[in-house]
Parts: sequence; structure tokens; C-alpha cells
Amino acid sequence: ADEPLVLGIETSCDETGVGVVRGHTLLADSVASSVDEHARFGGVVPEIASRAHLEAIVPTIERALERAGVAPADLDGVAVTAGPGLAGALLVGVSAAKAYAAALGKPVYGVNHLASHICVDQLEHGPLPEPTMALLVSGGHSSLLLAPDITTDVRPLGATIDDAAGEAFDKIARLLHLGFPGGPVIDRLAREGDPDAIAFPRGLTGPRDAPYDFSFSGLKTAVARWVEARRAAGEEVPIADVAASFQEAVTDVLTRKAIRACRDEGVDHLMIGGGVAANSRLRAMAEERCAAAGITLRVPRPGLCTDNGAMVAALGAEMMTRGRAPSGWDLPADSSLPV
Ligand code: KG4
Ligand code: ZN
Repeated sequence: ADEPLVLGIETSCDETGVGVVRGHTLLADSVASSVDEHARFGGVVPEIASRAHLEAIVPTIERALERAGVAPADLDGVAVTAGPGLAGALLVGVSAAKAYAAALGKPVYGVNHLASHICVDQLEHGPLPEPTMALLVSGGHSSLLLAPDITTDVRPLGATIDDAAGEAFDKIARLLHLGFPGGPVIDRLAREGDPDAIAFPRGLTGPRDAPYDFSFSGLKTAVARWVEARRAAGEEVPIADVAASFQEAVTDVLTRKAIRACRDEGVDHLMIGGGVAANSRLRAMAEERCAAAGITLRVPRPGLCTDNGAMVAALGAEMMTRGRAPSGWDLPADSSLPV
């Protein structure tokens, strides 16, 4: 049978992402970001994001279809992020998806943002083994998920109880006056620093702590105290060492807990996704530790780890391939949609 040709729309945060996928093959991925408009506020402003989506959505869809060389009438379906995310931002994507699907006479598939972050790896490394363990780390989420069936059954094993991993990177970058988003800058600076220079705390790693939950706010406070003490004493802050030591604490906990979850659940495949999966230290540490534990690691390229439309199209295509029912025309945008 022919593989389904699917348009995917993602507007849950600050990226207007549109992808075109045929089965496991990526045909086009077009992203318009409003990140620059949020930078001076140090974080994503929901109203600005919604308005930017509204302006970008139709041109981004047209650009993606054009790059894919696909006529709208040839599509088999339209997939869209139904949640979780910013309510007004999601609404723009869901409304556009319904409008295109209705106008073309094609089915619309509302998909979960976290599940699509996992499914995108099929575009890079082929069919996902089932079950797959997934560590999703971004500015909005930090979760460990077990996926026995990516289209119907994704189970949250643990999540952050305070800040998301990317949020921690962004807050430390702000503390060090490095701008927003902070992850890429800290990643770069950390290469010149010593990861063992400062022993920052590893949150929730005690014997009685929840084994798969994360906490980064204690780490953030510890880094802030350390830096402020240096500043108060009139000493220079060794920014590269702070960045490297902070990054080491985050990536140590993330990889340790992900591998423990694989062991406990008897799963031998780990995928890492979300914006923080672009982090070079996280990738290197995960590779090393997975190899030692006999776990196959799958990490999509950075452009597919951050929010994009291809991941939504990938999950929509998988749903169509497996004969899952499409959503109704009353598909809601659900800002707190569970997996
Ligand atoms: O997935 P994403 O594009 O958007 C959502 O938050 O959903 O992730 C953005 C987050 C930001 O917090 C950013 O600082 C972080 O991912 N990030 C990184 C790196 N690149 C992006 N964090 C650490 N290292 C990186 N190289
Ligand atoms: Zn995301």
C-alpha cells in the first residue's frame, strides 16, 4: 500500500512549524520562529506567540507544500498539535488544520505534542522499536515516557516537579547575562570550562526520592548563590566553569534516570528529544552511558529535536498507516492534554 502523505502543523509554543511527510520520509520542514520577539522579555510571551502564529501560518504552510513539491489536493490527511501548549497558540494551528482539511476533503488528526517529539525519530532512524523509552527535554517539558505504541499508548513515568531542563538553562543564562534562549550559549561556553570545577547539587537523586522525577530549581538556586557570592566579594565569575559545572549536573541526572528507567522496564532503546537534546554534552554522555548499559540510543538531529511541523506529520502518518480514527471537526485545542 502507498504510504500516507501528511501535512503536519505545530503551533504549541513560539515556532510555527509545518512539515510534509510520506510515511517515514521527510519531504519538507518549514519553521517560522518568533523567538527574537520574545528575547527582550527573557521568555516566551503567549500573546506575542499567538499573533506571530496568525501571521505566519498560511505562508509557512504554502512554503512547506512548495518545498515538498506537493499539491494540496494530493495530501491524504492533515495532522496538528492539539496540546499540550499555550492555549491561544495551539488554537491557531488547530483552526488552520481544520480549515485546510475541510477545504480539501481530507481527515484531520489531532496529535499529542510529546508523542510527536518521540515519533519524529522515525524520519531520521526508521521505524521506532516498541516499546521505546523517551527522555523529552525542552523549555516547556522534562519527562521520561514509555511508549509501547506511539499512536495510542505513551505512559509518563516521571517529569520535572519544578523547572523544565531547558528552562533551567535559560534561567542560568539570564543570571550570567548571556541572553535568551540560554541553552546554545551555555553549551558553547561550557566547552571551555571545567565540568568538575564546582560541585553543584543533583536534584532528586537520593535513595528515597522519586526515581524518574526531575527537579532543577534547587540547582538553579545553588548556581545563583555561588555566582552572587563571587560578585559580592568583588571576584570575577569564571563563567565557562559555571556553565560547564551546571551543564554537567543537569546532564548527569537526565542520563542517569533515563538509563535507570530503561533497566527497570527492560527496555533496550532510548530516544532523546526536545530542544535540550541538541546539547552536545547530553549527547556525548548519553552515548557513553547507553553503550556501557547495552542500550541503543536514538537522537534525531537538532533541527528535528526542537519544535517543528515534521514531527507532527510523522505521527499523523503513523496514525494513518495504523488505521487510527481521525479527530472530529470539534477537535479542541487542549493546553493541558495528557499523553
Ligand atoms: O523544544 P524547544 O525548541 O521548545 C520548547 O521549549 O518546547 O526547546 C527550547 C529549549 C530552550 O530552553 C533552549 O535553551 C533549549 O531548548 N536548548 C538547549 C540547547 N539548544 C536549545 N539547551 C541546552 N543545550 C543546547 N544546545
Ligand atoms: Zn516541544
